[in-house]
Amino acid sequence: MRFSSVSALMALTVLEAIATPVTPPDLAPRATPTVYLCGDSTMAKNGANDGDTDGWGQYFGTYTTVSVVNKAIGGRSARSYWNEGRFADVANVVKSGDIVVIEFGHNDGGSPESNDNGRSDCPGTGTETCVSDATGETVYTFVFYVIQAAKLMTAKGATVVLSSQTPNNLWETGSFVSAPPRFVGYQLTAQKALGANVYFVDHYQAVSNMYKKLGNSATNALYPNDHTHTSPTGASLSAQAFTQAIHTNLNGTTSLGSYIVSNPPTVY
Ligand SMILES: *[C@@H]1O[C@H](CO)[C@@H](O)[C@H](O)[C@H]1NC(C)=O
Repeated sequence: MRFSSVSALMALTVLEAIATPVTPPDLAPRATPTVYLCGDSTMAKNGANDGDTDGWGQYFGTYTTVSVVNKAIGGRSARSYWNEGRFADVANVVKSGDIVVIEFGHNDGGSPESNDNGRSDCPGTGTETCVSDATGETVYTFVFYVIQAAKLMTAKGATVVLSSQTPNNLWETGSFVSAPPRFVGYQLTAQKALGANVYFVDHYQAVSNMYKKLGNSATNALYPNDHTHTSPTGASLSAQAFTQAIHTNLNGTTSLGSYIVSNPPTVY
């Protein structure tokens, strides 16, 4: 672990971390916030780094009136983004009034107790812990890592938007099949534990609605190499679906709502 502040935070008891709602400090917000994006390859610049794909974080700025800084990195889970000190890096630059979007899930599956890949979270939605069979480290749940990350940001006076992961290609079989992975609901669980000043948007649902409307061939055309990473066009569309979800308060209001361009596109 690179950052002592991260270790110090991890010393909080798990229960305390889960149970304490966010109390934002009384800091004057900035007039013009910066939006920071934390996520994986589906959000990151150049997507899967295969020359064909891109992440939606590269396109969200087109639909906002404020600056967007894309801190997403391919291959990361909530756990590995935490363990590498990347949430801490963002917290170090966040100012009061800024907005942090956190979206993980694609790399969070599997078990840390069976051939741990350094990314799998401990199963469960609360205070469960596991021991990595690879490193012996204590591994926490997805909800735990997200709550820790949100608290780092809100302690700096930022607001946090917890966004559910994008779907894979929902027309892969030729018919439309949409079944949200468990991490979609986990983001909502984390938001409920944190309360006010942390918001939830179901990006999965927004993109799922969009794919249903686009249909089979148009959706398949957005996936050049695999069923997870989209073309730049697909990434732009995912950003537009996110924008629409924010603009229409799909799962309630968020702190991003005031910073969407007027007349944003309707994609679902
Ligand atoms: C978000 O809101 C939409 C629209 O009401 C709903 O379909 C979806 O299930 C919600 N997401 C969650 C995780 O509750």
